Amino acid sequence: MQRLLTGLQPSGMLHIGNYFGALKPFVELSKEYESFLMIADYHALTTLRAPAELRTNIMNVAKDYVAAGIDTSAAVIFKQSDVPEHTELAWIFECLVTVPFLMQAHAYKDKVAKGLEANAGLFNYPMLMAADILLYDTDVVPVGSDQQQHVEYAREAAMKFNNAFGETFKEPKERIMRDVAIVPGTDGKKMSKSYGNTIPLFGTKDEIAKAVMSIVTDSNAESPEHVYAIHALLRDRDSLGELYTANKGKYKALKDALVEDIEALVAPMREKRDAITDDEMRRMLADGAERARMLASAKMNAVRAKIGVTI
Ligand code: ADP
Ligand code: TRP
Repeated sequence: MQRLLTGLQPSGMLHIGNYFGALKPFVELSKEYESFLMIADYHALTTLRAPAELRTNIMNVAKDYVAAGIDTSAAVIFKQSDVPEHTELAWIFECLVTVPFLMQAHAYKDKVAKGLEANAGLFNYPMLMAADILLYDTDVVPVGSDQQQHVEYAREAAMKFNNAFGETFKEPKERIMRDVAIVPGTDGKKMSKSYGNTIPLFGTKDEIAKAVMSIVTDSNAESPEHVYAIHALLRDRDSLGELYTANKGKYKALKDALVEDIEALVAPMREKRDAITDDEMRRMLADGAERARMLASAKMNAVRAKIGVTI
């Protein structure tokens, strides 16, 4: 079985765009590989300086993935900060790449283009991500297209190390989740937490209803297109056609139907999520860290010997 690894930054509440665009396809993909799911808490530290928020976000992202259906007995779910080999290997890669090379990375370039000052962590971000991936002889890295360049950086780091010290790291391949639909938000634009147009994934029925009722509709049209666009994710074309024909012009009825369909999808996941305790997540992450560390520490022993610090 090939090995898959991906990282998730612990940031905020998920919406149904995240579910259809990332969570659901990822849960499916994770069944085909030996899967490692890493919560990238040290990457989050490049932008977040709020301990209580970081703790909450870490707990949330763990629960979200378990509730969405990740098989925790098969997949290894762990926190980056629990496996110190990641930051150790990142340092070694940083000594192999040049400053101009890292200056080309999007995360850094975008920050500077906005006139902001990047911290050194953000600058070195791609080398920590390279370490995340390469420590585990990862074959496949599923990421959004915004992360493609970072996987290229990981391949580059592997090549530089192998050239300098002999064959050690496998060059990973990205798997861009391209064919998933862009889920529109309540205003018809891409659903995104930065646009405030989201429908929460683990919200209560009332919160879902409130978001659905706020979907922008054009009072001249027979069919509310933004309602339909979201509805199309939940029902097949035929049954959707029937529903919208039977309720021509009745926007309230169609929105009510959409609330019910979202609720039918979300309720079982929400119940599962509510039943998960923080202690269960702590145990799961401790177990994940132990399984990850077995591989990471063996790899680091080999690396230390190759670079000449083992005497
Ligand atoms: P946001 O735009 O809300 O900040 P993120 O950028 O954190 O979302 O995205 C997290 C994941 O969810 C990514 O893999 C992204 O491709 C996916 N995603 C986010 N919004 C949507 C959407 N509207 N439709 C489909 N996928 C989405
Ligand atoms: N940088 C990724 C993001 O912001 C998260 C991440 C960290 C990651 N390490 C990784 C993704 C390793 C894939 C593999 O989304």
